[in-house]
Amino acid sequence: MSMVRPVESRGKGPKRRDSRHIRAAPRAEGFGFQFTRRRPREVSSLRSTSRGYAEPVRSIDLRSDTVTRPSPGMREAMAKAEVGDDVYGEDPSVNRLQERVATLLGKQAALFFPSGTMANQAALRVHTRPGDVVIAAYEAHILRAEGGAAAALSGLQIETIGCDGIFTPDELRAALRPTDVHYAPTTLLAIENTHNSAAGRVFPSDLLGPVSSAAREAGLALHCDGARLWNAAVALGLPPAALAAPFDTVSVCLSKGLGAPVGSVVAGGQDVVERLRRIRKQLGGGMRQAGVLAAAGLYALDHQLARLADDHANARRPADGLRALGFEVGATPETNIVILRTVAAAALQRRARECGVLLGRPGADRLRAVTHLDVTGADVEEALVRLAPLVTLAG
Ligand SMILES: Cc1ncc(COP(=O)(O)O)c(C=O)c1O
Repeated sequence: MSMVRPVESRGKGPKRRDSRHIRAAPRAEGFGFQFTRRRPREVSSLRSTSRGYAEPVRSIDLRSDTVTRPSPGMREAMAKAEVGDDVYGEDPSVNRLQERVATLLGKQAALFFPSGTMANQAALRVHTRPGDVVIAAYEAHILRAEGGAAAALSGLQIETIGCDGIFTPDELRAALRPTDVHYAPTTLLAIENTHNSAAGRVFPSDLLGPVSSAAREAGLALHCDGARLWNAAVALGLPPAALAAPFDTVSVCLSKGLGAPVGSVVAGGQDVVERLRRIRKQLGGGMRQAGVLAAAGLYALDHQLARLADDHANARRPADGLRALGFEVGATPETNIVILRTVAAAALQRRARECGVLLGRPGADRLRAVTHLDVTGADVEEALVRLAPLVTLAG
């Protein structure tokens, strides 16, 4: 166990022995404590020991795969990155990353973005005009979790179809309206693969062809929100380019399962990428010496892509384990996201946090556990042990 200092008030810090006043020092410094008024992050609770020392319970953070921290190797790659002004197109690391992603996705070109949200929203805008309708799966991230940006920034209406992130060509056709002055024109189909709120569900590869053909027949452009396309490719054992092929644009994230601190990329044809460059600038996403960030993305692609299979295996374990304990868990996860259904989501999330397990709460009656680079198989086992006594709360 790491060395910890006794719980006591120091200087002008708060006097109460209350874990809310104790924050962990950065991870590299082990479990040292300092007093602040912020909520703890690394250390979620304290156990008193017979010697009066506070023993930290290390948090197992399963809220999202975005919580990973750059590894020492990644930090080194960032520190050594060659940089230039990317608004002038002169950052060699950014250019390398864009070429690399374009190749991986089988597209002519690609553009680096600061976030998945900006990447998606720029792509929606490039394919549409204000007042258009975009069709997407039920609970699509572009509708549910991007701050209303599609309406606010591009004047779009999003109509959702299907369930669990999936729909058929017939469901798509049924959502289309006749060309008539009463109806807003439907101009874009957006598929989210994997689908975040459907427990990381992979869009079935045998449906991709028929659905995209139906969209083309109706004259729609196609965008893929592939924040976790890497996970879909690993789960299916297919190259990412095979999953990207039907789409005009594909956004992918480097800051989720791949473990980079920042960054998304949109790939597509040369033309569309040039138009995206202007939209990115309009949205305030033109970055200067962004090579330090692109270097993290390149490192992630080199070192942290294949290991996504470990996250998938680590997600199956809590799904099975939680079900065995009596929690209501949906289907066994195809990738790295487990959804728990419970009427007591808020209380259970709070109690889990007190036990040092951080869970996400994507809905009033849902909790989420996401496996990632910074969670090992042993962490998952430990989380199950800590969660077991809470099953009576789940209702
Ligand atoms: C499917 C999906 N798309 C887009 C995003 C947005 O990414 P960012 O948080 O980088 O804006 C997320 C984030 O979790 C996501 O899950």
